Amino acid sequence: MKAYTIQHGKQQLTGIKVAEPQANEIVISLKAAGLNHRDLMMKGRIGNQPNVYTLGSDGAGIVEKVGANVSRFQAGDEVIINPSLNWYHNTAAPPSDFAIFDGSFAEKAVVSEEFLERKPSHLSWEEAGVFALSGLTGYRALITLGQIKAGETLFVPGVGGGVVSYIIQMAKAVGARVITASRDQKKLEQAEQLGFDRAVLTDDNWEELLADETIDLVIETIGGATFNRSLSVLKKGGRIVIFGSSTHDEISFNLRDFFYGHYQLFGSTMGSREELRELMAFSEKYNIKPLIDKTYSLTDIEQAFDYLSSQAQLGKVAITI
Ligand SMILES: NC(=O)c1ccc[n+]([C@@H]2O[C@H](COP(=O)([O-])OP(=O)(O)OC[C@H]3O[C@@H](n4cnc5c(N)ncnc54)[C@H](OP(=O)(O)O)[C@@H]3O)[C@@H](O)[C@H]2O)c1
Repeated sequence: MKAYTIQHGKQQLTGIKVAEPQANEIVISLKAAGLNHRDLMMKGRIGNQPNVYTLGSDGAGIVEKVGANVSRFQAGDEVIINPSLNWYHNTAAPPSDFAIFDGSFAEKAVVSEEFLERKPSHLSWEEAGVFALSGLTGYRALITLGQIKAGETLFVPGVGGGVVSYIIQMAKAVGARVITASRDQKKLEQAEQLGFDRAVLTDDNWEELLADETIDLVIETIGGATFNRSLSVLKKGGRIVIFGSSTHDEISFNLRDFFYGHYQLFGSTMGSREELRELMAFSEKYNIKPLIDKTYSLTDIEQAFDYLSSQAQLGKVAITI
């Protein structure tokens, strides 16, 4: 089968053999997959390893073959991959054996039945293919840790981000007021369909422009480039959740201002299977769908990597298989 792999430091579309499923595993014939920021970093992380490593954490497809002990699925079922492996319940942090699935940029994937869920019926194949990783990350940040409530105000900069496009929709479904930011005025105009209430440019003076707002929750994904500016618009006693740092990881901030401000800072990463199931029910109830910017075929996957690297995207990049 065709797969997009890394081996000996080389990233390429190549032909590999499909593994035989173990007793608890399922072979899926993939229909669509989702490109994530993480995929851009895997080449650097894997390095020169000799083993074939297939990229891609998000995917949706049809069950083709099941192992002898599989009980929840049968051939023909439509499924999505839960990329958040070994984290079953909504605990304060993931378990020590937490791992992220890789292997969806391929015609077939072999996945344990524990990490498959039924495809949400309101999503197309492409939407289902990009759904889980970003949706789950956004859900835990906004709902589980951010505890957003109706009537509260959320500030979430970086409207172009794949996760941010879910967070905005979910916060609006809960009844919150949502403010976002982008470096690109055109992106803000194109993103209006997400339903945010107010937007500023990333280069604007946020403290001055947002002085009339009472911001209860900030979700920060941009990192060093904006963290202190995001903190400066948060109300005293407010919450800030971080799960990414697209710019630099290390920052300095004023501890005295922080403790006098009674701010609460939460770190987050993806989420548990329990939260993924909550997210699926929530998305179905409020008809929340991923915002897909561009779709590429598996054959053109290198163009998809280039596009995401260019940061021109607004929402998710899908791969059809
Ligand atoms: N911990 C986890 O489980 C987890 C899961 C998913 C993602 N993440 C991380 O979270 C971050 C966001 O992920 P994503 O997939 O949503 O990202 P993405 O699609 O790559 O988008 C990031 C957005 O951040 C803004 N941005 C990037 N660089 C910037 C800069 N120098 N200055 C100002 N704004 C900048 C841009 O928004 P505009 O173009 O609108 O300005 C960009 O579209 C990434 O760092 C990713 O690795 C972590």
